[in-house]
Amino acid sequence: MPPVREIAVFGGSSHPELTAEICAHLRVPQRPVLLKRFANDCLEVQLQSNCRERDVFIIQSLVRPVQEHLVELLLMADAARGASAARVNAVIPHYAYARSDKKDATRISIGGRLVADLLVTAGVGRVLTLNLHSPQVHGFFSVPVDHLHALRELAGHFRQRDLSNAVVVSPDLGYAKSAAAFARRLGLPVAAGAKERISDSEVRIAAIIGDVGGRDVIILDDEISRGTTVFELLDRLREQGARSVAVACTHGLFADNALDKLAAADVTEIVCTNTAPLEAEHPKLTVLSVAPALAEAISRIHIGESVSALFD
Ligand code: R5P
Repeated sequence: MPPVREIAVFGGSSHPELTAEICAHLRVPQRPVLLKRFANDCLEVQLQSNCRERDVFIIQSLVRPVQEHLVELLLMADAARGASAARVNAVIPHYAYARSDKKDATRISIGGRLVADLLVTAGVGRVLTLNLHSPQVHGFFSVPVDHLHALRELAGHFRQRDLSNAVVVSPDLGYAKSAAAFARRLGLPVAAGAKERISDSEVRIAAIIGDVGGRDVIILDDEISRGTTVFELLDRLREQGARSVAVACTHGLFADNALDKLAAADVTEIVCTNTAPLEAEHPKLTVLSVAPALAEAISRIHIGESVSALFD
């Protein structure tokens, strides 16, 4: 059997708390990184720990400012490869470019695919990520991708609630499969909105397929950005007589003050994970950590054990 190579974990600047938490779960030190910005605004990265023949994991969430964090990740991967790492793994808790996943207008770019190619060109040999916006994004990568979800964490939270009258609602048909898997974990029925996105800040949900009248609704989505989707769904749910509404998602991005606006709306609670650092807190908000799941996946990848078996 080949010797198990030493693991070396580095973190970009996007989410230091999550990196520290993952390292604590792995019981490994976080290796230092020096990031410099030159007068011409270019970045330079120096990994300040030996990478030679190490299994290198670089943790970087693609959150605001996304372009800065992306370039930082590319430079870190390039530095690790140039320093003779045995393998370079990118741990990307939130892959923001996944939303750019199809040609749905003329002459538009497909960023999800391009960024996947850039990562591989920079030296990334494996990707670990959570809840990609759509399943086809997985196939954009020409290297292995371990694609986790946070349904276990979210279901664990809602199991503490009275679910006797509850129903899970996906805002759109695209996410209905995940919502159904989540509902199965909780033994609940599922419903879905017929959503059409008009623009980044406007969506239309014409109808809800399924029974929500008089029920305690748990809205489940992959991410909440501006909250446009949830607000539109709340209108339909009210019209159809839902008794109460809780909101859950993996990626709590909360752009444009969405957290306060949502909390001020008639929702009982908002639950997300820490794939993105949160800039604000609110008494209605619960943040669940994905650090234990990511650490477990990293550990399994490192020793060559099945990751899917863990998260099925
Ligand atoms: C889109 O299709 C996703 O599943 C989410 O519903 C969307 O990204 C949420 O964005 P926003 O909160 O801005 O509506």
